[in-house]
Amino acid sequence: MAMRIPFIAGNWKMFKTKAEAKAFAEEFVKLYKDTDVKTAICAPFTDLDTLKEAFAGTSIGVGAQNVHFEDSGAFTGEVSLPMLKEIGVDYCVIGHSERRQYFNETDETVNKKLKKIFADSDIVPILCVGENLDQREAGKAQEIVENQIKADLKDIAAADAAKMVIAYEPIWAIGTGKTATPEQAGEMCAAIRGIVEKLYDENTCDQVTIQYGGSVKPENATEIMNMPEIDGALVGGASLVPEKFMGIINF
Ligand code: 13P
Repeated sequence: MAMRIPFIAGNWKMFKTKAEAKAFAEEFVKLYKDTDVKTAICAPFTDLDTLKEAFAGTSIGVGAQNVHFEDSGAFTGEVSLPMLKEIGVDYCVIGHSERRQYFNETDETVNKKLKKIFADSDIVPILCVGENLDQREAGKAQEIVENQIKADLKDIAAADAAKMVIAYEPIWAIGTGKTATPEQAGEMCAAIRGIVEKLYDENTCDQVTIQYGGSVKPENATEIMNMPEIDGALVGGASLVPEKFMGIINF
């Protein structure tokens, strides 16, 4: 079985100006000690350069939160993969539920973005999937997640799928303080690994990193990370505060 390295990533969403990002990074680098846990901050585009510079010489990664699937063109307001590559970002969040909900992101655009990243870069995508409350209450959570993953990974090669990170983020647990129980989170992450095995093979599903996201904080990180199929966390609110984010990394 593949040894999966725990991976704790922050998703800053639309928080922190450049100056605020710099202040965070200076404090965080002081607290940070190399551990067996991989870590990264996925930040607004305007912060990426600042974070790359501040984290230089450390093992802390930097991620974007979106990318366009074309190299260039008349796409006002968008940022391309060559632009991210030039900054040297390590990760890119794709298909976050907030983008699906407010910015018209669909499984089709998610699939195009993943293909673009794999075709032209070594950037590791963090693909977000998850059901909303109605879907969970209707007993459809696994079906929804399975359909998302199938559509999002359409025509993506096993070797690429093996490199990626899938974040299970139940929409009802995001920013609500309402965490999925470790059992609920663990159950879905195990199901996701099963879906990847069905789409590809055992080797691929052994390698793919599966995170849980939704109200993760220092107080609940240990029990979430102790679930056998959960390899990491995608952290929103708690990643904005150096001590809290460090507390999760030291779960
Ligand atoms: P919170 O940790 O703030 O609930 O956000 C989770 C999330 O959406 C991370 O991508």
